[in-house]
Amino acid sequence: MSIHANPQTGLFTLETAHTAYQLWADGQGVVHHLYYGPAVGAADLRGTEYCSDCGFSPQPAGMDTQRTYSLDTLCQEYTGSGVGDYRIGCLRLAGPDGSRLADLRFAGFEVCPGKYSLPGLPAAFAGEEGQCDTLRIRLRDAVSGLEVTLLYGVFAEADVITRAAVITNGGSGAIRLDKAASACLDIPFGAWELIHFHGRHCMERLPERGPLFGAVQTIRSARGASSHQHNPFVILAQPHATETAGECLGAMLVWSGSFKIECEVSQMRSTRLVAGISDDDFSWTLEPGASFTAPEVLFSYSNEGLGQLSRQYHRFVQRHIIRSVWRDRHRPILINNWEATEMDFDAEKILGIARQAAELGVEMFVLDDGWFGSRSDDRSGLGDWEVNEAKLGCTLDELIADVHALGMRFGLWVEPEMVSPDTPLYAAHPDWVLAAPGRAPATGRSQLVLDLGRPEVVDYLYHIFHRLLAEHDIAYVKWDMNRNMTDVYSHALPPERQGEAACRYMLGLYELLGRLTGDFPEVLFEGCSGGGGRFDAGMLYYFPQIWCSDDTDAVHRIKIQYGTSFGYPPAAMGSHVSACPNGQTGRTVPLATRAVVAMAGMFGYELDLRALSAEEKEAVRGQIALYKQLQPLVLDGRLDRLTDAAADRCFTAWQFTAADGSRAAVSVVALDPQANPWPIHIRLRGLEAGALYRDSLTGGVWTGAALCHAGLTLPILRGDYPAVQIMIERTEPL
Ligand code: GLA
Repeated sequence: MSIHANPQTGLFTLETAHTAYQLWADGQGVVHHLYYGPAVGAADLRGTEYCSDCGFSPQPAGMDTQRTYSLDTLCQEYTGSGVGDYRIGCLRLAGPDGSRLADLRFAGFEVCPGKYSLPGLPAAFAGEEGQCDTLRIRLRDAVSGLEVTLLYGVFAEADVITRAAVITNGGSGAIRLDKAASACLDIPFGAWELIHFHGRHCMERLPERGPLFGAVQTIRSARGASSHQHNPFVILAQPHATETAGECLGAMLVWSGSFKIECEVSQMRSTRLVAGISDDDFSWTLEPGASFTAPEVLFSYSNEGLGQLSRQYHRFVQRHIIRSVWRDRHRPILINNWEATEMDFDAEKILGIARQAAELGVEMFVLDDGWFGSRSDDRSGLGDWEVNEAKLGCTLDELIADVHALGMRFGLWVEPEMVSPDTPLYAAHPDWVLAAPGRAPATGRSQLVLDLGRPEVVDYLYHIFHRLLAEHDIAYVKWDMNRNMTDVYSHALPPERQGEAACRYMLGLYELLGRLTGDFPEVLFEGCSGGGGRFDAGMLYYFPQIWCSDDTDAVHRIKIQYGTSFGYPPAAMGSHVSACPNGQTGRTVPLATRAVVAMAGMFGYELDLRALSAEEKEAVRGQIALYKQLQPLVLDGRLDRLTDAAADRCFTAWQFTAADGSRAAVSVVALDPQANPWPIHIRLRGLEAGALYRDSLTGGVWTGAALCHAGLTLPILRGDYPAVQIMIERTEPL
């Protein structure tokens, strides 16, 4: 059992392979956070707490004589409200008497084997590698009857501790929650830097790193989606932490809607991190007996640098978040028609692209936006999911049969959560969109957001898409979502419950995704929101991969995939070779380099391959053959970021190593070839020191130690963005 509970002392220690986490319910019932870091054996860490008589930090009632005891200075597991802790808090509420107070005290615990579940929410599961134990800590406010159950899932082997909170009204009057965070992590000591992942549409998740300081720093999305601009994943790192050394810990929300992660360095220099759904425009009324479940946060810690922390998340997301049967399967190399045709196509054009792709070895054809209703541009047709046979010139089944005849599987784009104002669906149900009475709602990409908080909307969409998947032989679905929320108002909710609308939308979406992915487990789902606008662990619970960005410029993609890789596995990143000059940037990058970059994720093509020269087509054949060999490394291997791709100027490099250490693939892209150049020299990582490896660059045989310490020097790379891939194979001594 990885959880040690001592009811006498009130100490709880959670142990993973390399870390420990300790909390303590003291005699007052206040639950302190004592420690999260490298394993410390069975140590009782109560003596490490710093308690001082800090002026203007009040004592809880009854503790007047103990001036060193203040909720304002203690490190805590979850805060109450309004009773003496002035730092960022976990809860804001209004009780039946109108008071904003909650004084949470220990009311019991439970330890049990296995992983708790969060009904209605995506959450980590134990799975077949099922090492997980659960700790439940119950907190209670004696006056209002509010109860908070803190949930801890200890994944010992994975070095991950999950947390969530269930807030229950155990009193007799209604309680309105205005903030309901998932978890608080108080770190008693140390100066920490915050790394977060910032961006925009077509340039998502670039890491930004800076010191934490006394002011509150907030990473948030208020868009009703986790967003292109921010990601619900942050890292706290010691100032000197690098890829290969130093302390760092991550917090990843399993939530796809508006969120908030706040950090604050307190007056006593402890660091507090509070994570959860966004409390902006949020409220939730709990009638007596009702509960609200705050989504899960995945915490992981490493003192071996950011690379190791990322690998812990990669493995955890792959093993304990992604449920799809596709997780470990060969993912088909696909061709998507979007960048080649946008919505200007008919079956003949589509089949022309498909035919060429099949001939070169592509395994699946994906028909993107524009196949349904009156959808001839991005102003119309969403919600009218009837196949536009007049436009295609055939039925969907005929098109699918033709694609199958080419030896390829067939995939389809959908955008279920939206409606265009010109559709019969909107005319029939104007109250099914997010819009407030008397106000014309704002549009985004000319579309409106369906109110998925309404069960009848979820049912309607379920039947439409269930039918689509049941009636046609569709092997893959690209599930898109192309605008953010405005006018967040649900016609199904009374005025006093409007603060629940955005959150109920997400719960409705999760229900819909759970039903559809459950009914069609063999369908490979790829998430998308204008590329990576909803790239989060919540979505990955349903979709094993997500289209990483609408920017397919390979040089930009290096940065986007690099930033994404801090928290999310490369196996989750959809990544395609597109045409040049690139549609988004106008830049021309060699085909070989585009392929090298796309091979760092789930590989495919998104261009009309007929336009390539005979030589390029031959190259595509080779790329497909090579990727088939490399994909197992990307799905299940170890990623090392050999350079800092966000800052690299001359070249960038990364390495995938097979889980069994038998082979590795190193990719190098020169960004700015030099005259009279310095050598490009790279040192590999993660190879077995004493084992022998042959590298495809020099043909030489080296020990792993030699490759990792002495490294390899590349030949001079000239021209625009040349790339080199070096294969490293384990070999026996001669
Ligand atoms: C979004 C997606 C694109 C494409 C278009 C279709 O922008 O990210 O890949 O599917 O929608 O409208």
